[in-house]
Amino acid sequence: MKIFAFYNLKGGVGKTTTAVNVAHVASLMGTRCLLWDLDPQGASTFYFGRKAKVKGGVERLVAKEKAVQKAIKGTDYPNLDLLPADFSYRHFDDVLEEFKSTKQLGRLSSTVKKDYDVLFLDCPPSLSHLSENVMRAADVLIMPMLPTTLSLRTYDQVSEFLQDVKKAPMLLPFFSMVDRRKSMHKDIVTAFPKEHPETLATHIPYSSLVEKMGLSRAPVTDTSPKSRMAVAYHSLWQDIQDAVTGLA
Ligand SMILES: Nc1ncnc2c1ncn2[C@@H]1O[C@H](COP(=O)(O)OP(=O)(O)O)[C@@H](O)[C@H]1O
Ligand SMILES: [Mg+2]
Repeated sequence: MKIFAFYNLKGGVGKTTTAVNVAHVASLMGTRCLLWDLDPQGASTFYFGRKAKVKGGVERLVAKEKAVQKAIKGTDYPNLDLLPADFSYRHFDDVLEEFKSTKQLGRLSSTVKKDYDVLFLDCPPSLSHLSENVMRAADVLIMPMLPTTLSLRTYDQVSEFLQDVKKAPMLLPFFSMVDRRKSMHKDIVTAFPKEHPETLATHIPYSSLVEKMGLSRAPVTDTSPKSRMAVAYHSLWQDIQDAVTGLA
């Protein structure tokens, strides 16, 4: 089981939207996928139309051997399951802090490794103990970035942070909510990959279709499968797979 974390220190950059659509795309290919919503706001749980309820909360997830397996819910899609978040996840950091090592999330993930080919983590925006656990557990950090100067700084901060992480994951940035009519967006999406060749080639465009996800509570790759958004998410998943080819 490979672990892909949708991560950025910043909020509102497209982590959840990308996680939900990419997980759906991967499941369409026959890949057995689990999406773990790690954010107490529970946005990806909401988008899949599931209740934000984890029996016993995050304390039980961490304490009981089989609790992760038991908390998993199906979605409306074959090959795609969800581990929901609920409000208890706001204590995730405190619960993990009780352990000296940052390997707990990896340990919990490994309890379902036989059931899935891919685990996607929809991360909250922070650089917390939970984030350190994510960085320890994940094979790949997929980092959505807005094409703005401040976002680019965040990329350097995350890269720097990863330098101190043992067995750090591969970091794959991509541009999210791109509006090619804006000259700054155009300039940044052209210039950044020249300095950072690891940048994924696909850009996710800015689109009002994404707002529809809140109403339909479904990925746009399902409700509007021929839209340019859907095409972009398919292409992004292909880029990710190409980038990790050969990853042990
Ligand atoms: N490609 C996009 N086009 C337009 N709006 C988007 C796009 N991606 C995300 N959004 C909107 O931006 C906001 C933040 O997106 P979200 O995926 O929740 O970010 P994060 O998980 O990083 O906080 C949400 O209101 C979402 O609907
Ligand atoms: Mg989110």
